[in-house]
Amino acid sequence: MDDSPNGVVGKTLFDEAAIAERVAELGTEISKEYQDQELLVIAVLRGSFIFAADLIRHITCELEIDFLAVSSYGSDTTSTGVVKILKDINQEIQGKEVLIVEDIIDSGTTLNHLVDYLALKQPASIKTCSLLLRQAGQVNEPPLDYYGFKITTEDFVIGYGLDVAQKFRNLPYIAIYEPDASDEQ
Ligand code: IMP
Ligand code: MG
Repeated sequence: MDDSPNGVVGKTLFDEAAIAERVAELGTEISKEYQDQELLVIAVLRGSFIFAADLIRHITCELEIDFLAVSSYGSDTTSTGVVKILKDINQEIQGKEVLIVEDIIDSGTTLNHLVDYLALKQPASIKTCSLLLRQAGQVNEPPLDYYGFKITTEDFVIGYGLDVAQKFRNLPYIAIYEPDASDEQ
């Protein structure tokens, strides 16, 4: 069976204007924190690529960007709980100020794993920023310094980089994913 999602785009949670406003605010906060410093932004692929692209244009200190790709989910919407690094960063981070940029914190497993992993490379500091934080009680609370919006829904959310089985990342807003009965395996 092909694993394309059969569900549809549901209710909009955050429209383009709300996202743009909040991302600009985050950029301003982060710029204050790192003013006169050099920052290395590490965006976690693939979900954070749109958020990171918008966010860095609101950060005014000198910065570089690198990417790390992880996979903790299969094609469905249930976490496997296993974090695999599919693509590592391309540079040394020892002595650098690092900001990890994520799309959503759900159980906290991915971010916790990434912070531990990058800490081994001895950066000067590691801070974290996620567009969304699901307020469902993280299994192991990750160290989150900045977030865009808290969401209370247990439903999967899509758009603005977030996917279901790699689809819907191109929606310019964030919406709830309405699964189809045939999505359940
Ligand atoms: P965690 O490790 O459980 O915190 O899961 C974080 C990762 O799961 C995120 O980086 C997303 O890729 C993915 N994820 C969790 N919830 C959603 C969602 O509602 N929509 C899309 N991806 C999600
Ligand atoms: Mg992700």
